[in-house]
Amino acid sequence: MSLAAPPAVPPPFPRSRLRRLRRTPWIRALVAETALRPADLVQPFFVVEGTNRREPIPSLPGIERLSIDLLIPEVERCAALGIPMVALFPCTPPERKTLDGREAWNPDNLLCRAIRALKRAIPDVGVMGDVALDPYTTTGQDGIVRDGEIVNDETIEALVKQALCQAEAGCDVIAPSDMMDGRIGAIRKALDEAGFASTIILAYAAKYASAFYGPFREAVGSARALGKADKKTYQMDPANVREALREVALDIAEGADLVMVKPGLPYLDVIARVKDAFGLPTLAYHVSGEYAMVKAAAERGWLDAEACLLESLTAFKRAGADAIVSYAALEVAASLHRRG
Ligand code: PBG
Repeated sequence: MSLAAPPAVPPPFPRSRLRRLRRTPWIRALVAETALRPADLVQPFFVVEGTNRREPIPSLPGIERLSIDLLIPEVERCAALGIPMVALFPCTPPERKTLDGREAWNPDNLLCRAIRALKRAIPDVGVMGDVALDPYTTTGQDGIVRDGEIVNDETIEALVKQALCQAEAGCDVIAPSDMMDGRIGAIRKALDEAGFASTIILAYAAKYASAFYGPFREAVGSARALGKADKKTYQMDPANVREALREVALDIAEGADLVMVKPGLPYLDVIARVKDAFGLPTLAYHVSGEYAMVKAAAERGWLDAEACLLESLTAFKRAGADAIVSYAALEVAASLHRRG
C-alpha cells in the first residue's frame, strides 16, 4: 500500500461529483479499496484446566475460557469459516504460579497440551503460542522480577526455554509478547539449533503500555497479581511512534518473520507507518479493551456491535494491516459469510 498523494487534481464541481461512485451497492462494491476477509483474522482463545469447562469472562462478553476438549470444536468452527490461525493463552492455576514463572517451560503445561491436542485434531489451522511470563508469575509481570526490576537478560533465558517447549509441542507461530530487548534473536537462534528452522516468529514488535489490556488480564488471571503495578519499563510509551519503527527494525534484524502492532485502533498511524517503512507482513491486535467497549455499548443499545466491529476491522486493513488478531474474529467471519 502506498501513501503517495493522488496523481491528478480532479476537475472542480460540478464536473466532479464523488457521490456518483457511492450511489448504489454495486458501484460501491466495485470501487472498494479495501476488503476484509475471514482469511485476515486470527481468533484468540483462553484455555483452562479440566474437561467440559466453560467459564464466561464478564468483561469480554461472548468469550469464554475453555477446557481443551471444548476448545477443539471452537477451532473447528474457525476452520469452517476460513479463519487461518488461532492464538492461545493459558489461564494458569494459581498454585502453579511462581516468582520466576517456571511453569512456562514445563513441557506438559496447559498451553503445550492445548497445542498438541489442536495439532492432532485440526492440523490445518495455524496455532500461535504466546511467549511471555505473565500467565505464570506471581507478580503478573511478563518477566522475572529482581529487587523491583524486570530483569531483561535472565528473562530472555526463560523465554527461550518457553519458546522451545511450545515449538516441541507443535506450535506453528511463536509469538513473544513480552517486549524484552533481544529476545527475538535469542529465540530464533535456539529454534534453529533445536531443528525448528520452519517455526515462524511473530514479534509483538511495537507493543504499548496500554490501559486497554484490562479484560485480558482478568481472562488469564494476572490482574490481581499485577495490582496497581504497570509494565511501562518494557512496553512502549503511547506518545511514541519513531521508537516503534526502531523496535520493528530491531526485531526484523533479529529474525522476525511477522511483526505486530498492539493495541489496534488507537495506533492505526503506527500500523500504517510500520507497513510503509518495512513492507513486512504486519499484524495488528484489536485488544480486549477495544472489543469490550463495543460490546458494552451494544449491551446498552448504544451501538450496533456487528456494524462497529466490521467497520473497525476494515479500518485495520485500510491502515495496512495484513491480518488482525481480534476477539471478534469468529463473529465477524460469520457476518462476512452472511453478507456474501
Ligand atoms: C501479556 C499479554 C497481554 C496481552 C497479550 N499478551 C497483556 C499485557 O501485556 O499485560 C493483551 C491482549 C489483550 O488485551 O487483548 N504478555
